[in-house]
Amino acid sequence: MQRSGESSIFLSQTGNSLKLTNKVAVISGASRGIGKALSKRFASEGAVVCMCARHVDQLRTASLEIMSSGGKSFFEQTDISDEGQVRDFLALCSSNFGPIDILVNNAGILGPRVPLSGYLSQEWTKVLSVNLNGLFYMTRNALPFFAPAGGSIINVSSSVGKIAQPNWGAYGVSKFAAEGFSQALSIELRSKGIRVNSVSPGAVATEMRHQAYPQEDQRDLRKPEEILDVFVYLASDESKHVTGKSFDAQHFTKG
Ligand SMILES: NC(=O)c1ccc[n+]([C@@H]2O[C@H](COP(=O)([O-])OP(=O)(O)OC[C@H]3O[C@@H](n4cnc5c(N)ncnc54)[C@H](OP(=O)(O)O)[C@@H]3O)[C@@H](O)[C@H]2O)c1
Repeated sequence: MQRSGESSIFLSQTGNSLKLTNKVAVISGASRGIGKALSKRFASEGAVVCMCARHVDQLRTASLEIMSSGGKSFFEQTDISDEGQVRDFLALCSSNFGPIDILVNNAGILGPRVPLSGYLSQEWTKVLSVNLNGLFYMTRNALPFFAPAGGSIINVSSSVGKIAQPNWGAYGVSKFAAEGFSQALSIELRSKGIRVNSVSPGAVATEMRHQAYPQEDQRDLRKPEEILDVFVYLASDESKHVTGKSFDAQHFTKG
């Protein structure tokens, strides 16, 4: 996909006594689903939200929705599997808004639901290039822009990244990797005051979930907006001593 080179900044007034006031949050995969809902929620809590994904029209819509509710946002068309695009995006976030306080590595793709023995190599590479390389590119290139006081990194995982299930292929493997990445990084960054935790959303009504379970009636599932409290908690100072932990968004208790 060609990049449009387009980016926009929308600024407007927000209220106070919010959980993320004046924090700068970077969210990948913000064009739809959980990432879009999370961007809107973080903005409603007072954060400036820097959003990326590949579909720029959907990012623009998300940004307009944030602005119409009085929030602040920025977006840039970015494929997280391309490290150059990731670098450009993060540099723009920081040059526009200053140090980053929060990074949510949310973007991901599903890939085919087939056994590993029949998994095509090109599909394997494609899924890992987004779910694993993208996670690494976003994190490594965001770290130099983190606020001196530290911050919070939240990696979006999955139940199939904790207990292996058949027919999840590279997706399941990438989520196990995300859990390991989160654990190692949390130890490495502890002295810098940057916390790293993972969140498994559970079954949530999104395009990815529909792709995984096409026969399912999504009206029976939680909506993205209904699973976001754990993200706000982990992004906020309320969880300032919490790091190296793995959370289940649908059974969230403050720890
Ligand atoms: N929904 C569930 O039930 C469920 C359960 C467990 C875990 N999760 C995890 O939750 C996260 C969000 O999933 P979702 O359900 O909201 O899925 P979704 O609706 O398919 O959204 C995925 C997001 O990732 C973005 N994305 C995909 N490839 C990208 C790339 N190369 N570069 C940048 N952005 C990219 C997509 O935007 P573009 O297409 O515009 O790039 C989109 O914004 C994922 O990490 C997923 O594994 C979801």
